[in-house]
Amino acid sequence: MKKIIVIAGDGVGPEVTKSAVTVLKKIDEKFKIGLEFETRYAGGSAYDKFGEPLPAETLEACKNADAVLFGAVGGKKWDNLEVKFRPEQALFGLRKGLGLFANLRPVKVYEALIDGSPLKPELVSGCDLLIVRELVGGIYFGDRCESEIYNGVECAWDMENYSVPEVERITKLAFDTAKIRRGKLTSVDKANVLSTSRLWRRVVNDVAKNYPEVELNHLYVDNCAMQLAVNPKQFDVIVTSNMFGDILSDEASVIGGSIGLMPSASIGELTSFYEPIHGSAPDIAGKNIANPMGTILSAAMLLRYSLQAEDAAKTIEAAIDKTLADGYRTADIYKDGFKKIGTEEATEIICERL
Ligand code: IPM
Ligand code: MG
Repeated sequence: MKKIIVIAGDGVGPEVTKSAVTVLKKIDEKFKIGLEFETRYAGGSAYDKFGEPLPAETLEACKNADAVLFGAVGGKKWDNLEVKFRPEQALFGLRKGLGLFANLRPVKVYEALIDGSPLKPELVSGCDLLIVRELVGGIYFGDRCESEIYNGVECAWDMENYSVPEVERITKLAFDTAKIRRGKLTSVDKANVLSTSRLWRRVVNDVAKNYPEVELNHLYVDNCAMQLAVNPKQFDVIVTSNMFGDILSDEASVIGGSIGLMPSASIGELTSFYEPIHGSAPDIAGKNIANPMGTILSAAMLLRYSLQAEDAAKTIEAAIDKTLADGYRTADIYKDGFKKIGTEEATEIICERL
């Protein structure tokens, strides 16, 4: 059996994970993978139930699982809690605790949705890129100080720190990924200003010597942000630090027209973790209108990367393509003339097309 821990989380998390589990169960009937699901809590809902955003038992269960399927965490209700009790802390605890060092965020443009993109169709048509974000280092996990008096004034600070092995590990994964895609890797840093970026660039250049078949270039993060808007098709794989990857992946997510369709995989040392990138969207939670496709596509990545079930993954991706090509649209991508569907209906329609 393959054990999958399902953490629904907050906001739309429960609806979209329910939908993805339904699709996975249907896929399992077809491909006989032997999937087994167990539910755990994290985020605001875990805080409400257990008084902490990441109960130790949740982390333990994830460590022993073949993969983790995650919805989203966060919401207004928990915004004013002390930092250590906030829902995002669950994410950081899971990232660090599971050693989820590489976050893969693919950006794929669906021809059927091209006019939903804020960019001109000719700029985005055919765009297919992958952001590889370092996820357990850098400024997210460095020392920080919320408030101190320095030279007589109040200050706060956050430390960015990268080691050679940390950069090597993410860079190798990015090169390996580029090698089986279109053979192009862009490393993004701010080496004209930051020491961590200069180390990053040096290590990337060293690792590159083992990958002569991959074409490597370097971009400063500000330029990369601009290039994503003016010519996104130049990119195949982008590798970057935790903070830059956070920012660039939100920017890149809109190229395809809707963040609701974007999946992600976080590859770990102990297990791997799959979640849509849209977040908890509390304003639409519980209304059966959230787009479950980002989570369903994350489930496809789970099959691909954690269970080596490539055919099953492709079957799910094709069912989503077909659903869109057949004119079905959830509210986030709806336009006049199309068939408007809710979360549950979308799930049924996708299942019929598996
Ligand atoms: C993401 C999110 C998180 C991050 C937030 C919710 C802490 O923006 O996964 O990109 O910054 O990593
Ligand atoms: Mg983000």
